[in-house]
Amino acid sequence: MVKIAICVGSACHLKGSHGVLAAFRALLEKYQIPGGVDLEGNFCQGRCTEGVVIRINDEIITNVSKDKVYNLFQEKVLKGGTS
Ligand code: FES
Repeated sequence: MVKIAICVGSACHLKGSHGVLAAFRALLEKYQIPGGVDLEGNFCQGRCTEGVVIRINDEIITNVSKDKVYNLFQEKVLKGGTS
């Protein structure tokens, strides 16, 4: 199971975390991920100046925008999707 957590704290919210969340959701509807994906919103990760901050499994990824979601998804979820 791949865990994706997206910071929806106020700073990240202003930088578009909801768009990031929506972009992940749309991809998850399109692709079947073996083992499944747990997508959730997260509180402030303490790195507000680097938002949007997301976490995929235990890796923190900063400066995410919705345009980057597709590449991240390819790289971290489709290819790196260990269970
Ligand atoms: S609001 Fe996202 S890291 Fe603080």
